[in-house]
Amino acid sequence: MRDAAPTTIYLKDYTPFGFTVDDVHLTFDLSPNATRVTSRITFSPNPDAADHTFFLHGEELKLIRASIDGQPVLPNVTDKGLTCDVPNAPFVWEAEVEVDPAGNTALEGLYMSNGMYCTQCEAEGFRKITYYPDRPDVMSTFTVRINGTEKVMLSNGNPTDQGDGFAEWHDPWPKPAYLFALVAGDLINHPDRFTTKSGKDVELNIWVRPGDEGKCAFGMEALKKSMTWDEDVYGREYDLDVFNIVAVDDFNMGAMENKGLNIFNSSCVLASPETSTDDNFERIEAIIAHEYFHNWTGNRITCRDWFQLCLKEGLTVFRDAQFTADMRSEPVKRIRDVIDLRGRQFPEDNGPLSHPVRPESFVEINNFYTATVYEKGAELIGMLKTLVGDEAYAKALDLYFDRHDGDAATIEDWLQVFADATGRDLSQFKRWYSQAGTPRVAVSEDYSEGTYTLTLKQSTPATPGQDTKQPQVIPVAVGLLGPNGDEVAETRILELTEAEQTFTFDGLAAKPTPSILRGFSAPVILEHDTSSAQRAFLLSHDTDPFNRWDAGRSLARETLLTMITDGAAPSGAYLDGVQAVLRDDTLDPAYRALMLGLPGQSELAAALHDGGTTPDPQAIWSATETLRQAQAQHMQDLLPRLHGEAQVSAPYLPDADQSGRRALGSATLSLITRLDGGALAAAEYAKADNMTLQLSALGCLIRAGKGEAELQAFYDQWKDDRLVIDKWFGLQVSLADPEHTATVAQTLTQHADFNWKNPNRFRAVFGALAMNHAGFHHASGTAYELLAEWLIQLDPVNPQTTARMCSAFQTWRRYDEGRQTLIGAQLDRIAATPQLSRDVTEMITRIRGA
Ligand code: PHE
Ligand code: ZN
Repeated sequence: MRDAAPTTIYLKDYTPFGFTVDDVHLTFDLSPNATRVTSRITFSPNPDAADHTFFLHGEELKLIRASIDGQPVLPNVTDKGLTCDVPNAPFVWEAEVEVDPAGNTALEGLYMSNGMYCTQCEAEGFRKITYYPDRPDVMSTFTVRINGTEKVMLSNGNPTDQGDGFAEWHDPWPKPAYLFALVAGDLINHPDRFTTKSGKDVELNIWVRPGDEGKCAFGMEALKKSMTWDEDVYGREYDLDVFNIVAVDDFNMGAMENKGLNIFNSSCVLASPETSTDDNFERIEAIIAHEYFHNWTGNRITCRDWFQLCLKEGLTVFRDAQFTADMRSEPVKRIRDVIDLRGRQFPEDNGPLSHPVRPESFVEINNFYTATVYEKGAELIGMLKTLVGDEAYAKALDLYFDRHDGDAATIEDWLQVFADATGRDLSQFKRWYSQAGTPRVAVSEDYSEGTYTLTLKQSTPATPGQDTKQPQVIPVAVGLLGPNGDEVAETRILELTEAEQTFTFDGLAAKPTPSILRGFSAPVILEHDTSSAQRAFLLSHDTDPFNRWDAGRSLARETLLTMITDGAAPSGAYLDGVQAVLRDDTLDPAYRALMLGLPGQSELAAALHDGGTTPDPQAIWSATETLRQAQAQHMQDLLPRLHGEAQVSAPYLPDADQSGRRALGSATLSLITRLDGGALAAAEYAKADNMTLQLSALGCLIRAGKGEAELQAFYDQWKDDRLVIDKWFGLQVSLADPEHTATVAQTLTQHADFNWKNPNRFRAVFGALAMNHAGFHHASGTAYELLAEWLIQLDPVNPQTTARMCSAFQTWRRYDEGRQTLIGAQLDRIAATPQLSRDVTEMITRIRGA
């Protein structure tokens, strides 16, 4: 093992660093296998620290020389860093190290992607660039000189000088090392400008490899919209002369908010109608916004330590969701976010990887960039806003920016701001940050003599390391509908703070139908035994668009579950109810498209498991297929009309209106394919002139067991576009039928274009494999084995991406003994691999459980 005993880091052990950093000067002499990094750093003893041991992080560095105040020193170097005797007064530290960017396949620190130098420092990558106190509470200004022959050489902040073979940058805003970035390569820019509200002129650039210049315009528009929105909504302006975005092909995550120099996975910034789907466009717009918004929530105010990660991520996800809701459709965005939360965060929160939004310990911080920290973290901000109200939220945020600008802050600081701005005691709310697990809220009702009583009971199942839970503050948005469907009580926020609590509504002429958890006002699982008639009633009458959609969703879930467990027939209430909604052409097509969606198969497995039934993935798959077929037959008269209505004749725009219509077009095409065997899909594939239509038609054909010729044609058409080829790989695996999923994936790994060291390509195949529920969980275990084999192969090359993909196994305890044995064997096999990374060791240990 690389780490004989991997150390666990605890939140409670936090102590400040013994020194402050006043200034950092870095010089890079670029060379693919031997880049020299010279640092000159001014340190002063930190009066707030008790321990003045001079320890600098440093990993995989070759120390060439070091000096203090110009005098050579010989530090004590280990594989984690160095210690050295230092004066008890301010001093200048200098060090020269050598690193190997071309040999860096982990994509952390300074590495190369397609001949271009780039960096990734969050969370702890800077220590692979030079010796430094690599922790977010150590902040400094940076001055950077890059010596190299590349046409474009970028770093954070503003350019100060450049000439033949060099470029200099200065970032006047103190920042932690994780926000450092450097890029050098023969790049081309897509330039623009932006004038801030106070009149500051900012130069904007998106830098790409030659050939990609035509895919920048959309990202640039998204950036300008984000800049305007943050000024309008949060009063936040940009604070440098330039804002650079760079697209790189080899990147572990989506994108990174380095100060003034955001680095993006090319899949999250490059877009064109021919090569990107509507979903790609929406995602790109959101990620550009997200990284831009980090400039204030993350950079100007950063995190004291990595346990506070949700301070920047939860808030920034919340802000980007608000932005998308404003740019597009609020209910559609909310529904999509909840689908994602239930699909990714709930399984995490209800399995062996469950952890609090603010974890209290970790072995490898990279393993905590999770749906819980990000998405549940964002839900906590949303709940706070609901509880205090919009105005108080705005006031609290102003105070936050005011009070903490320039700080490395904590969740305590964040909550204090809300307490001070609103006078509210948030000590119970704070449990949301420390208690893991998805709360269940059980509902019971009573009606007598004009008074309606709602009893809510909360409980949270035990999670690893947390056997008992305390009641949390749960804002439950509730409205009531009268027998004729009119709203008889407007949305009211019930604050559930006790384990069990009763709320009453007076003056009701008849027993109402409650619409509970409107807008998904809290990240909980609602347990409410209602009749399907009641759900169907909400599906046709609820004034809350989220709950109206969710009524359809729960009807679908209910019918699927009874189809699976009792072999029941598809429910007429569901089929009729959805059809009625689909007929209503006053409703947004995007919303109607969402109504046609079914709960994911993994979500159904979770629901079965929760209800005490062992899920059978094959049975879940069959029931889903049967319901789809029933839906197609039930709606056969309506489908052609709907599909026709959804057609867009105007020139392609990736906006909410057109993409909503195409979403409905795609959902209806997939049902029509079940009736016509693919005739319409083939015709539409042939005339598709944008990627959304092309991919949706191709998907229908593959699902119908056809499309072989189209798949080949698609490959021939797009073989030079790596982002489209990622889709080609992914689609085949995600749509393969369960019997063949593993074989399809395995065959694709033999393809000449399966460049497994590229995270996007690896994820295209194996992310899709893990998402194909019935295929991945095929009783033979071949998919488990295939994934394990490739994880073992990838780990020495890229532990971070390998570790993330291990979560495919996190739900293993839900399944039958046979599958558990098969998965357990693969987990054992991974665990037994010599030299397994710390990242994967931690993941497998947690997944296997104590
Ligand atoms: N901080 C990045 C974001 O959410 C994510 C990221 C984490 C990227 C770690 C790279 C490495 O915006
Ligand atoms: Zn982020």
